[in-house]
Amino acid sequence: MHIDIITLFPHMFQGPFEEGILRRAREKGLLSIALHDLRAFGVGKHRQVDDVPYGGAPGMLLRPEPIVAAVESILDRPVFRGADTAVEVETLPPIILLTPQGRPLTQAVVKELARHDRLVLICGRYEGVDERVREFLVTDEISIGDYVLSGGELAAMVLVDAVTRVLPGALGYERGAEEDSFASGLLEGPQYTRPPEFRGRQVPDVLLSGHHERIAAWRRDQALKRTRERRPDLLEKRTSSEDPSSGE
Ligand code: ADE
Repeated sequence: MHIDIITLFPHMFQGPFEEGILRRAREKGLLSIALHDLRAFGVGKHRQVDDVPYGGAPGMLLRPEPIVAAVESILDRPVFRGADTAVEVETLPPIILLTPQGRPLTQAVVKELARHDRLVLICGRYEGVDERVREFLVTDEISIGDYVLSGGELAAMVLVDAVTRVLPGALGYERGAEEDSFASGLLEGPQYTRPPEFRGRQVPDVLLSGHHERIAAWRRDQALKRTRERRPDLLEKRTSSEDPSSGE
């Protein structure tokens, strides 16, 4: 998987991509990331990237030209669907704008993105981006939640982290990501490690029993209980084949 990230703040990405699973995935050659400074594609002597909104409104908007120039330079082909340009959208990698107006990032979306071998992420800034970027350049818009960040950078990091975890081989063990919260549509239940007793609090007997079927049944019950208590909306969303009452 190769991920291009267009940002005004490439330095923001330094820490998160250099630790843990992301670092290992890069070292193993499963993931490569290229950071592209939007400023380098700015307009004129001052490399301007933003301007005031037409019609008057507070704040600044990102102009379309630097963003389009950045994507076309990265992909080395015309990408902007201008009135007189034919673009074969089907052959493009997803060009994703991170914005609170996008579709919500869920584990299902993460898996869908992980199937591509390349992604282009555009981090929005200021009060937003010129609408023509949305309409004629990007192929997808993603939000990481119903709150407003100061830009798409943190959202891009979240997306890259979540996508990397599901790349085959990234975790070093294969079942982990599947068992995580949300992959099954359920939250993960309680987990324990050593010691078996800590300050008078015991690990549940069943986990020490060595009885695999009973352990699996207990885990499933606990996952259902936790989901019912904390996120009943997830249970409603599950399909009937995964219905908890089916005893599966
Ligand atoms: N940019 C600002 N807020 C955002 C959010 N919630 N998700 C994605 N990008 C954003």
